[in-house]
Amino acid sequence: MTRDIPLPELPIVLAPMAGGPSTPELTAAVSAAGGLGLLAGGYLAPEELSRRIDAVAAATDRDFGVNIFHPTPAPEAPPAAAAAAEWSAHRARLAAAFPDAALPATPHADDDGYAAKLEIARAAPAHCRWVSFAFGHPAAAEIDRLQAAGKAVALGATTLAGVRAAVAAGADAVVVQGIGAGGHRATVAGVDDPGADDPATAPGPAGLVAAAAAAAGEVPVIAAGGVAGPADVARLRAAGAAAVQVGTLFLTAEEAGTKPAHVAALLRLRGRPTTLTRAFSGRWARSIANEVTDRIPEAPALYPQLHHLSSPMRAAAAAAGDPERLNLWAGSGFAACRVAPAAEILAGLLPEAGR
Ligand SMILES: Cc1cc2nc3c(=O)[nH]c(=O)nc-3n(C[C@H](O)[C@H](O)[C@H](O)COP(=O)(O)O)c2cc1C
Repeated sequence: MTRDIPLPELPIVLAPMAGGPSTPELTAAVSAAGGLGLLAGGYLAPEELSRRIDAVAAATDRDFGVNIFHPTPAPEAPPAAAAAAEWSAHRARLAAAFPDAALPATPHADDDGYAAKLEIARAAPAHCRWVSFAFGHPAAAEIDRLQAAGKAVALGATTLAGVRAAVAAGADAVVVQGIGAGGHRATVAGVDDPGADDPATAPGPAGLVAAAAAAAGEVPVIAAGGVAGPADVARLRAAGAAAVQVGTLFLTAEEAGTKPAHVAALLRLRGRPTTLTRAFSGRWARSIANEVTDRIPEAPALYPQLHHLSSPMRAAAAAAGDPERLNLWAGSGFAACRVAPAAEILAGLLPEAGR
């Protein structure tokens, strides 16, 4: 039986953006304007995620969705025996480069409340129609339970092998992330091809989307990564994407909760390149280049341990308005960021806006 896939009226999906930018107001604004708003669940306490889902559900009757971090380790994560030594070496590198930074003395890891968040998503109001996953694929029984509860499941991929695995797992849509995407790479360890995070060999986004659409068959492909305007959306749609997921351009939406120092960097550091770094979190992520990415070019694949290690340093930088020690997540199209209501940013991505 073909499942009814609840794609939005307009072909734009608001990327879930954990760590502050994602707010119920932003999610609701994009869904109310005819796109699909995805709410980030990452880093939140489960009770806070419930509260936010209810806030979106109350603010709009339109479909929206929620995103959960799957606790799959980072690709290339070292064996447990080596992890402690690699963590200590990274801590020493940070301490040498930033002697006044507050750095925790011992490693911390957690699963981001995966089981509790899965259950919250399953029991969410009916118009919280989508549940998307970052970093890993849920077990078959978990996908079945979500679908039986009326939810559509979106899985991420960064390579063709990842697309095939997502379809085989029963995904209702595959979010195909190109190398220019802001924030963490959606690479799934053991599923995506090795080398997926290497900008030198990663296929161009439109080429990857075209191959993904062919491989996914009936399953819609949602393309993400590096969108700077309507021409990029049109190109990805022409390559076969049913919709385009956009993150960075919504970081400066009026409804977003992006830290002021991050917004200021997006608007003022337009001359800087973006770069892939593991220094902040232990997973590859695209950030505007700053002192941390420049001075710590090597970092181990220890997520979430490095996320927790750099957390106090990042919090202090955000409070001080210092962009040099902050994870400035941004896609390659960040120079097109402007401060505006989310509905206006969304309208600016549609084909009419490009004419
Ligand atoms: C600040 C920021 C936070 C992000 N957080 C998440 C997240 O919590 N979950 C997720 O699946 N993707 C996350 N992403 C990645 C997006 O889903 C998407 O792949 C990316 O934003 C698309 O590229 P673009 O930013 O160039 O538009 C994040 C991206 C950014 C910029």
